[in-house]
Amino acid sequence: MLTAKDAVARILGNRERTISSPAKAFAPSNIALCKYWGKRDQNLNLPNNSSISVSLGSLGTTTKISKNSNDYDEVFLDGVHQADASSFAKRTLDFVDLIRGDFPVNVRIETENNIPTAAGLASSASGFAALLLALNDFFSLNLSKRELSELARMGSGSATRSFYDGFAVWHRGEKVDGSDSFAEQIDCNWPDFRIGVLQLSTKEKPVSSRNGMNNTVEHSILYQSWNEQSVRDYDLIMEAIQKQDFTQLGQAAENNSMAMHATMIACKPMILYWQPESLTAMQQVQALRQQGTEVYFTMDAGPNVKLIFLKESEEEIKEVFPTLQIIAPFVD
Ligand code: PMV
Repeated sequence: MLTAKDAVARILGNRERTISSPAKAFAPSNIALCKYWGKRDQNLNLPNNSSISVSLGSLGTTTKISKNSNDYDEVFLDGVHQADASSFAKRTLDFVDLIRGDFPVNVRIETENNIPTAAGLASSASGFAALLLALNDFFSLNLSKRELSELARMGSGSATRSFYDGFAVWHRGEKVDGSDSFAEQIDCNWPDFRIGVLQLSTKEKPVSSRNGMNNTVEHSILYQSWNEQSVRDYDLIMEAIQKQDFTQLGQAAENNSMAMHATMIACKPMILYWQPESLTAMQQVQALRQQGTEVYFTMDAGPNVKLIFLKESEEEIKEVFPTLQIIAPFVD
């Protein structure tokens, strides 16, 4: 089995590194409409299925990397120093090591999220994408978008899709070295498309998405059917984007998310990311639809609920969800 180091060596080749300090970059978070849930390769983070997402525009992560005069690395998250043993510092520095190789430099990494970290709002997607963009500048690597998306995958699968505005697709790929598993933008301009983020909890999720998906693949009797469904959902969602058919997109995205959560609920022991407030929000969405307002929801590995709707429904939806943070991915 190939290691992440092998994959990085393949992509970077013998590219020369020249330090440009400090380097700062922003990457948006993204929400999957057709979800990635399950890996075909743990080391390279290769997915069992292709996925489709929409960017959250200005919500995401800004990361600054500077040369550290001390002979050790330091990691700060939202201004707070992270102990080396913390999972955040470890994941960050493991990724830095992959790109740094044996280049002799110590770094200070400062990460700021304008979305809660690890609350199912995909902060790892924007986190690894921003980290890699900053590393790209810091080491003057000149990576293409495709190379960026392939490399970011080694930090977090969903990060592959965080280099693009609007809709993006992450191809499952077939090759064992992962060279055909990358993300690209879907050509679409849909100014009326809206995503609403309903932040119900900022608490750190109890089960990481990595553990959640690995346990589901191993211990859920529903996993195989999910995998088959995700192939059909992918086609439905891709077609809906191309036709700008909102009903088809919303129905397929909501169903895809519920089916993913069903696989987790059927796990032994069960994995349940929902809170009572999540369920209330899902029922409010259903009620709105029954009253004629077209709105759908999607949920990831956390209790927060994201709404999908069109501009024309904004006012009715705000009445039910006054704290909703609305994002216009094609306008903002
Ligand atoms: O990239 P990860 O390991 O954070 O996993 C993301 C999993 C989901 O958010 C639930 C789905 C997705 O495609 O983003």
